[in-house]
Amino acid sequence: MCGIVGIVGREPVAARLVDALRRLEYRGYDSAGVATIHEGKLDRRRAEGKLFNLESKLAGELLPGTIGIAHTRWATHGVPNEENAHPHFVEGVAVVHNGIIENFSELKDELIVDGAVFTSQTDTEVVAHLLAKYTREGLGHREAMLAMLNRVSGAYALVVMFQDDPGTILSARFGPPLAIGHGKGEMFLGSDAIALSPFTNEITYLVDGDCAIITHDRLEVMDYQGRPVTRKSQISQATAFMVDKGNHRHFMEKEIYEQPEIISHALGHYVDFASHTVKATDKAIDFSKLSGLAISACGTAYLAGLVGKYWFERYARLPVEIDVASEFRYRELPLSPTQAALFISQSGETADTLASLRYSKDEGLKIGAIVNVRESTIARESDAIFPILAGPEIGVASTKAFTCQLAVLASLSIAAGRARGTVSEADEKAMVKHLAEMPRIMSRVLNEIQPQIEALSRDLSRFKDVLYLGRGTSYPLAMEGALKLKEISYIHAEGYAAGELKHGPIALIDENMPVIVIAPHDRFFEKTVSNMQEVAARGGKIIFITDEKGAAASKLETLATITLPNVDEIIAPMIFSLPIQLLAYHTAAILGADVDQPRNLAKSVTVE
Ligand code: AGP
Repeated sequence: MCGIVGIVGREPVAARLVDALRRLEYRGYDSAGVATIHEGKLDRRRAEGKLFNLESKLAGELLPGTIGIAHTRWATHGVPNEENAHPHFVEGVAVVHNGIIENFSELKDELIVDGAVFTSQTDTEVVAHLLAKYTREGLGHREAMLAMLNRVSGAYALVVMFQDDPGTILSARFGPPLAIGHGKGEMFLGSDAIALSPFTNEITYLVDGDCAIITHDRLEVMDYQGRPVTRKSQISQATAFMVDKGNHRHFMEKEIYEQPEIISHALGHYVDFASHTVKATDKAIDFSKLSGLAISACGTAYLAGLVGKYWFERYARLPVEIDVASEFRYRELPLSPTQAALFISQSGETADTLASLRYSKDEGLKIGAIVNVRESTIARESDAIFPILAGPEIGVASTKAFTCQLAVLASLSIAAGRARGTVSEADEKAMVKHLAEMPRIMSRVLNEIQPQIEALSRDLSRFKDVLYLGRGTSYPLAMEGALKLKEISYIHAEGYAAGELKHGPIALIDENMPVIVIAPHDRFFEKTVSNMQEVAARGGKIIFITDEKGAAASKLETLATITLPNVDEIIAPMIFSLPIQLLAYHTAAILGADVDQPRNLAKSVTVE
């Protein structure tokens, strides 16, 4: 993830900005830069690689000025070099950005026709050109900012300075976080409170759709129509040495809400947002030569693998043998070196998964690791590493790691399909375009469904048993929803293939067993609706998680219907993960459970 810092100060800021960037290094980056305004002039230093390269430049050529912005970049659009490093300048406008501008291609084409000359491969540069254009057309800085915000779409945190206004920093948030720090005669801005902790602990967190303007002693927040918005400040407990919960009660809630930012960062490693193609994967596994795949993992990681099975089989026509690692390792499964084996593990240290990896290696298979910790044992013992780049996941219940595992599996199944000639170039572009829209859609869903989910969780917390149903890739989601609920709220829950209802679970259905049905309006929808009718006919209470088309099509009475946007099936599992994560989280929070550290559970099970 990129890191952002800004200071409207009373003394030189360049060194303090770089120090603050150092506190954001945990987010991962591959270039950095800082810009200030001094005596009416914008100036900057940028460097590829780590912060000491930037510091060497600053030592060689000081950067005076009491107002500045700085950035650590994780490349999504364009290679990690100095030209693509932020801040980007256009005609006296300086911009730093975290996230994805989805419509940057069309904006870039429009701006080039208008005479703009681009100097980088980044999507960010279109923001600077738009602001310069609006300013040239006579708009004031605030109006230019709002006009730009109403043109761009995507998931972004943006921070802007205008050379002719050396007392103001403008910013906006839709997805990736932004925090404002209140100092004494100085104001600060950063990606999280950790970066700002040496300057101040009085923090105001922006929310999606906020545009914030800071001077050295004032914060003004408005919506994209310029209407004033009130945001309260709070005293942050963050120090430079801890991961920050932000304005969330638990790490799990923070990790649910940071998924839009995280997933755009993870995707940037696997897809090219400009050409809407998948990037070359680790060459150690050549999907074009495989006879099949074996996948093994535990818990939530296993359920991500189960979704991946559907994708590899459907898009790459690769048969997939999958099992939980505690069974896989002892089955003496006949495997062939013409297969490859994928092991999915957030921690990269799960004992059963590691044992299954070693079994497969002994059988002569190429080994791929889909992990969150690149230096982990599972990664070290693999031929190919596919990092999920989710950042530290502190909550024991896995959320952002799960959706990042899905994003990686979706990218790999498309890449495998391209390598095997079973996915056309047109299909690849279409599917990658859907993946690129995911961060924005996730942000929208998280904002829209929160109040309904919180209210519904109060009902759900009264029950002792819950059944989740789904078909196709919604079947592993049903199991993941059940796992989330049981592991943090201690309510018994089971996830079932909807088609299995009649083969036993229907005996359980009565008014004391709510049934949560996960059903986007896909090719299974009608069949799942008939399962819902069977539940309703026996007095069962249905919580229906569907999309706009599904909500319009089903006339069934439900306890609640959670309606998500209509999305393509390649991203439905990631989008439909959000309500099941939030439902489990709020139910557990209402019950007063220890959400981040549930009883009996460990974040990584390094024993059998
Ligand atoms: C998920 O919410 C659980 N905490 C657990 O099932 C976890 O997914 C499982 O233990 C696997 O851990 P890993 O991904 O680190 O291998």
